[in-house]
Amino acid sequence: MKLEFMALEKTFPDGTRGLSGASLTIETPAFVVLSGKNGSGKTLLARHALGLEQADSGEVLLDGKALASVLPEARRRIALVFQEPEHQILGVTVREDVEFGPRSSGEAPSSYRRRVDDALATAGLAGYDDRLCAGLSGGEKRRLAIASALLSNPELLVLDEPFNGLDWTGAASLITTLLRLQESGTGVLVVTHDLEKCLAHADRLVVMEGGSVIRDGSPASLWDELPALGLRRPPGSVERLAEMSWGAQLA
Ligand SMILES: Nc1ncnc2c1ncn2[C@@H]1O[C@H](COP(=O)(O)OP(=O)(O)OP(=O)(O)O)[C@@H](O)[C@H]1O
Ligand SMILES: [Mg+2]
Repeated sequence: MKLEFMALEKTFPDGTRGLSGASLTIETPAFVVLSGKNGSGKTLLARHALGLEQADSGEVLLDGKALASVLPEARRRIALVFQEPEHQILGVTVREDVEFGPRSSGEAPSSYRRRVDDALATAGLAGYDDRLCAGLSGGEKRRLAIASALLSNPELLVLDEPFNGLDWTGAASLITTLLRLQESGTGVLVVTHDLEKCLAHADRLVVMEGGSVIRDGSPASLWDELPALGLRRPPGSVERLAEMSWGAQLA
């Protein structure tokens, strides 16, 4: 899959410039980390991938076609885990929430039961089936959003600040899950400031500032510049970047 953001511009009615010529191409499989300071436009760009925001100008293309013309298809093939996971909870209980997609599209419970079990287990929510979503902790809500996103088997999984609220084992098991997905051919786009947890695995690091993409390269090639770009460099030297794996720590 090829997803292209081409010269997106967006100014809000209050005059805030959200995106200012943002361009980015993602081809799956890939493990891309998108970073940048607060307010640099990361969430806004990610939301354009699902047509949740309309740019004033510029284009989003999915396999060369205008996203707006293939929106239902795009929303099947691309999954987004929101920065605020409570915004995407649709069920009363955990299991109802994860089942929401297949159930509302009329699929028989026998055909999705196993997938739901697997997604809950992968997200670290095995045994949470009957818990009320409203009573979940922040980290549990994030795990729930991840489980729901995994259920559709997306070709590209976009996670906006996925480590927020996750404890150490939660973050490490999320990384392990993402690596497994990448191995199976899924594209992973992680939007985060938390480079320490994921940079070791990234093929590409993309940095935004002021609504545009200002860097796009290998983590090693951008390593020296990170502090100047306002990003916290993981401790250690670039030569040992590959060893800074969080996923491996659980093994
Ligand atoms: N609905 C809105 N109305 C006005 N301004 C907005 C709106 N949504 C986003 N913005 C502005 O657009 C800019 C980019 O916002 P965005 O949420 O994409 O930043 P971000 O890079 O995700 O930041 P953070 O790291 O804090 O999550 C910010 O200046 C923000 O205030
Ligand atoms: Mg954001």
